[in-house]
Amino acid sequence: MTVTDKKSYVFQCKISETPAQVIGGKGTRITVEKDGKVYDDVIDGVTGAAVGALGWGDEDIVDVITEAAKTSTYTFPSLIGNKQSEELAKFYIDHSPKDAFASALWCCSGSEANENCMKIMYQYWLERGKTKKTKFISRDSSYHGFTIGSLSIADNARAVAFKDILLPGTQCLKMPVCYPYRFQKKGQTEAEYVQGLLDALEKLIVDNDPETIISITVETLPGSSIGTVPPPKGYLPGIRALCNKYDILMHLDEVMCGTGRSNPNGGLNCWENFMPLDQGPDLQTVGKTLGSGYVTIAGVLVSPKVKDAYVKGSNGVIGSHTYASHAFNCSVALGVQKKIIGQGLTKNIFKMGNLMGETLKKELLSKDNIVGDVRGIGGFWSLEFVKDREEKISFPPKLDIGHRFQDVCFENGINVMGMTGNYDYMTDDGDIALLAPSFIITEKDVEEIVARVVKSVDDLTAALKKEGEF
Ligand SMILES: Cc1ncc(COP(=O)(O)O)c(C=O)c1O
Repeated sequence: MTVTDKKSYVFQCKISETPAQVIGGKGTRITVEKDGKVYDDVIDGVTGAAVGALGWGDEDIVDVITEAAKTSTYTFPSLIGNKQSEELAKFYIDHSPKDAFASALWCCSGSEANENCMKIMYQYWLERGKTKKTKFISRDSSYHGFTIGSLSIADNARAVAFKDILLPGTQCLKMPVCYPYRFQKKGQTEAEYVQGLLDALEKLIVDNDPETIISITVETLPGSSIGTVPPPKGYLPGIRALCNKYDILMHLDEVMCGTGRSNPNGGLNCWENFMPLDQGPDLQTVGKTLGSGYVTIAGVLVSPKVKDAYVKGSNGVIGSHTYASHAFNCSVALGVQKKIIGQGLTKNIFKMGNLMGETLKKELLSKDNIVGDVRGIGGFWSLEFVKDREEKISFPPKLDIGHRFQDVCFENGINVMGMTGNYDYMTDDGDIALLAPSFIITEKDVEEIVARVVKSVDDLTAALKKEGEF
């Protein structure tokens, strides 16, 4: 068979079409070629997919990369390890609350991290002789990656497309999503809403025999699933308490929200906003900002409790990937993280990100426009669009507002991630746009981000009014 359309040779996205292509980037700005036109000075408001912590073209990292290329040699980690992976693990552990983590596994993507984490959690119970533990609990409307395992514990349109080849639903149980903007009833207090969610989770555990449940997985701050919904007070500690009560592992997925993006203490973990520092998760997956787009690296962090069971048991992890603990990737990620922490950039993004979010909230929610909610924390925020703010009615899916907003933003010089189906992915109901700028943003950048986003909201609101859709 001959290929008839040679517009693009890359098998992704819209296969026959060449997508917008990045030409270069410096700091918070990127240059992009789109439909034959070059767009300069575009603010990267979402740094890929919440990846680029340090911004683009960082000269110090060019030096780190050069040094790493000179000094790292690939070895297969099951046979011969390397010092770089040890140093990166120690750095992450040292910059987390005391005794939160004791060990780390490094891999190449967030999906791979979650895939590994599922096996590590299952093996943990084997090490403790609990062979009946074969079921995972996770949440409705969640995203954990695109491998078979990570899709199985997720719940979204992509998982539905592949449902017949995923792990069965009886083995991957789902608890209700935590999404107050949409599901906290009028008149219901936050505490009542949280208690309802925890009661539903406890019922799910009890109905399915706690002795068979491996783990509970949640995104600390969901991103590409429902858009940066901060967990309400008591929710994550409540899950922690249920895990303790029924002897179940707690796994936090911080691939998108973690590693400095939303930490209140100048450190790395997002859960430090929501849980006591001495009562964190048993396992945590991370990625994205770890390598900040300069290398492809992600990982699984393991608590002392989990490590200890392994050491007292077989003292080995079953299986490994060729590129696990990759010395070059670990070395560059360590250089990135040292610079971020050394220059106080996680503190900076927490402050500047909150300024960005709060200013957007003030500017957008005080006017009549298509924005129904502005939410997030630190460097991770989203806007949710609705046709009717009072009744929270979404726009008809055919209008594809999330992606249309992304296009308007691009024309106004800011790159954001527009998405649809956050409220109900089966009907594609709901539209959001994500913001996740680099950690280096200044107050002036915040002003520009806000100005461009507000202009884009105004432009799209005016266009929809003209079309009779708003
Ligand atoms: C919470 C979460 N987990 C896992 C992943 C998968 O990561 P990756 O795309 O690197 O495989 C993502 C990606 O967006 C994510 O948001």
